[in-house]
Amino acid sequence: MSADPIDAGTAASAVVRRPRVVLGVSGGIAAYKAVEVLRQLTETGHDVRVVPTESALRFVGEPTWAALSGHPVATDVWTDAAEVAHVRLGREADLVLVVPATADLLARSATGRSDDLLTATLLTARCPVVFAPAMHTEMWEHPATVANVATLRARGCLVVDPAVGRLTGADSGAGRLPEPVEIAALARSVLARSVPARRSTGHSHGGPPEQAPDLAGRRIVISAGGTREHLDPVRFLGNSSSGRQGYGLARAALARGAQVVVVAANVALPDVAGARTIPVVSAVQLREAVHARAAQADVVIMAAAVADFRPVVRATYKIKKGDGVPEPVALARNPDVLAELVAARRPGQVLVGFAAETGGPGVDIVDLGREKLARKGADLLVVNQVGDGLGFEVDHNAAVVLGADGTQTVIERTSKDLLAHQVLDLVAARLAVTDDPVVGVPAGTRR
Ligand code: CTP
Repeated sequence: MSADPIDAGTAASAVVRRPRVVLGVSGGIAAYKAVEVLRQLTETGHDVRVVPTESALRFVGEPTWAALSGHPVATDVWTDAAEVAHVRLGREADLVLVVPATADLLARSATGRSDDLLTATLLTARCPVVFAPAMHTEMWEHPATVANVATLRARGCLVVDPAVGRLTGADSGAGRLPEPVEIAALARSVLARSVPARRSTGHSHGGPPEQAPDLAGRRIVISAGGTREHLDPVRFLGNSSSGRQGYGLARAALARGAQVVVVAANVALPDVAGARTIPVVSAVQLREAVHARAAQADVVIMAAAVADFRPVVRATYKIKKGDGVPEPVALARNPDVLAELVAARRPGQVLVGFAAETGGPGVDIVDLGREKLARKGADLLVVNQVGDGLGFEVDHNAAVVLGADGTQTVIERTSKDLLAHQVLDLVAARLAVTDDPVVGVPAGTRR
């Protein structure tokens, strides 16, 4: 994720204004992790106002929030009454992010209560609202919480599924707050899309609430990283894909309301907040994990670099040089997962491939991409040049996205998160068309 606030959507504006975030904090033990979310956001140039609840202050005190945000902190609507803080905060915010969101806070927000500054701000906000819940598993799974989460999502709020893991005590289960660095990254991905849209419509004060995110309710499977094909327990044939682009896509899809499963091949990054992550090692494992979920998915994005070959034999024990010069390694072809997905595609499903290419003398990567797209049969192929600070193991990327319908979209060098949103714009357009009974007629021309 880029640390540049301009990447969070300010490039179009001549005067760079820092994106404004209201960080709501409710009273759960995970409040201490919200301190790190605050730091992450201020360090990446965001103007953050912290609005804790009274009970949040029992976990982390007011001076911590004030010192780290650089702004005064209040919990009730009576402080600074002449300023009408709840109206100003809600109206001026580009994003309201609640970390952690307790069961009580979700309930109060779902029922429209406004008995403190945070819930009042949530009612006046007309920007995207993200809740990152954290609580014990029983509370998260209680029908009352399930219903409140459904209500908030139906209103267009993002409610991030908590991670599964260690809870307050020795217990573990669903309810753990995702890693703060990933909550901040998700917040930036939401801003990357919403701030330019709000600026271009001039929509920053009053007006109707934001519309539901465009991928709300969509199920998206994304493969990321690079597979490893082991020769023995410690050596493998692999590639240098870091998983950053796949994770950027996952974040962007979540930021737009999708339910996301990430099939992660050897990715050394924190799990994306709100995504279900399935770790795999080899191409065969990746194939199984992707196929197990693809039938239910609206979109499958194959961002992983999948090895085309694997050693026929995997030695049980480490190969020792004392064993002499090894025989040439015999290789077997791996299945082509994307081609299999195309063969098994269900109506309306959108399939996206990636092709990282270096080109070569007299070889144009777009020509290579067109040939590959035709061979694979996907709907979209994201062709990117690797090398020169682009592609693998770096934060930036550039691409040409080829459509099976003959379209060609150039994405100039940008952060992997912004590139992800541009790819998802193309995906969303195709989902809208396939959902449409009057295929081929642009939505704006119909009555
Ligand atoms: N892919 C796949 N299964 C494979 C190899 C690739 O699903 N065994 C997918 C990748 O995830 C990517 C797309 O196919 O989305 C293109 O991958 P790439 O390695 O560029 O294509 P190949 O068909 O392997 O072509 P080549 O190696 O000859 O460039």
